[in-house]
Amino acid sequence: MFLFTRSSGRWRFRRLRRSCSWNLALSGTIDYHIRAPNNKKRVDILRIKDCNNTADFRKLAKKRLPAPLFHYIDGGADDEITLRRNTEAFNNVRLIPNALADLSSMNLGVNVLGQNIDWPVFCSPTGMTRLFHHDGERAVCKAAYNHKTMYSLSTISTVSIEEVGALTPGPKCFQLYIHKDRGLSYDFIERCKAAKFSALCLTVDTLVAGNRERDLVTGMVMPPKFTLSSMLSFMLHPNWGLNYLTSEKFQLANVASQIAEGTGKLTSVIDYINSQFDRSITWKDAEQAIQAWGGPFAIKGVMSVEDAQRAVDVGASAIMISNHGGRQLDGSTAPFDQLPAIVDAVGDKIEVILDGGVRRGTHVLKALAMGAKACMIGRGYLYALAAGGQPAVERALTRLRQEIERDMILMGCSSVKDLDRSKLHFD
Ligand SMILES: Cc1cc2nc3c(=O)[nH]c(=O)nc-3n(C[C@H](O)[C@H](O)[C@H](O)COP(=O)(O)O)c2cc1C
Repeated sequence: MFLFTRSSGRWRFRRLRRSCSWNLALSGTIDYHIRAPNNKKRVDILRIKDCNNTADFRKLAKKRLPAPLFHYIDGGADDEITLRRNTEAFNNVRLIPNALADLSSMNLGVNVLGQNIDWPVFCSPTGMTRLFHHDGERAVCKAAYNHKTMYSLSTISTVSIEEVGALTPGPKCFQLYIHKDRGLSYDFIERCKAAKFSALCLTVDTLVAGNRERDLVTGMVMPPKFTLSSMLSFMLHPNWGLNYLTSEKFQLANVASQIAEGTGKLTSVIDYINSQFDRSITWKDAEQAIQAWGGPFAIKGVMSVEDAQRAVDVGASAIMISNHGGRQLDGSTAPFDQLPAIVDAVGDKIEVILDGGVRRGTHVLKALAMGAKACMIGRGYLYALAAGGQPAVERALTRLRQEIERDMILMGCSSVKDLDRSKLHFD
């Protein structure tokens, strides 16, 4: 392939190397990567097996997804300060390893929300997943089961509670949003009981959708207002389009029959949230939902010590310290920043789970050493899903688990119980 370019004041044709790839930038310009002509070989992520970590899967997802969908996963609220802080916060502490500690065996298992999982990471709930890969929730649920960890299904999933319940015998958590139609919310709880879900979590940080400006730029709104460059990006990803059109109808599967917004359209989740979620909910509603469920129950989106204490008071089994992956209140503090104070206040009364910013095994070790029972990942599996469906999610989970195991050995710890604050250096 040739490109007509201007160099040294003259226009000329240049031949492009095979490793080149089209990439539609958010600005709408076409960003064309070519290997540097003379010097070092450019490392290009083209296949799943090239992906060794979350950042690699992110790059591949960016290549394989139409730009509006990639930015829907990748983006955060406002200036994305909190999105970035969620991961950067882990750099505020350093790990202190011990040596010669007999590491002939390794136990990464934890019991969280009443479930024994093989390693201390499980999948956060993410909505509309079939937009990112036609296998969507099915792929992630099966990959989580194969990796002996828990899967969480969003209220606004594209595969139903019943289907996911029957998909694997592995542990599953259902994420509840309380809708204006309270009957619908309680109906979810009954359906989860029938489908043998292991636990529930109530998300409390999404009474209104965050201001995700990347979606405004790409037109990922309701009704979709795709820009020319967004439409071009869909055209440049024919595989995605073909899979979207040839797989079953896209819908918010748990609500499809009840409310119009659930039926069919390539809908904006922001519009759904703003029209359906109930802003009048209080801790009393949380308490009632906990009682209606009667099993392990987490409050997801707790960020303050006061709310952590309230979660204890209403009888929750766990809190998920989370700011929704930086997608809601920009400028808010990071889950890892809040972890020590919350663990100190309620760590002996309730399970504390860290959700947000986890990209590396060392992040998990730091969170556990700080007092978290387990960590959750959202984008950590979503990028992989978008990059290559279930096999890619499997690889992402394998790589993360391998990192954790290797890091544990390097830390001189043979069990997650060995991780405590004595292993952390604070500035
Ligand atoms: C594309 C996307 C969709 C999400 N959908 C939901 C959802 O439906 N319900 C929910 O409670 N959290 C949702 N979240 C938030 C995740 O559960 C989780 O809190 C967040 O991804 C953690 O941050 P991380 O991506 O840095 O791991 C979503 C996150 C992303 C990226």
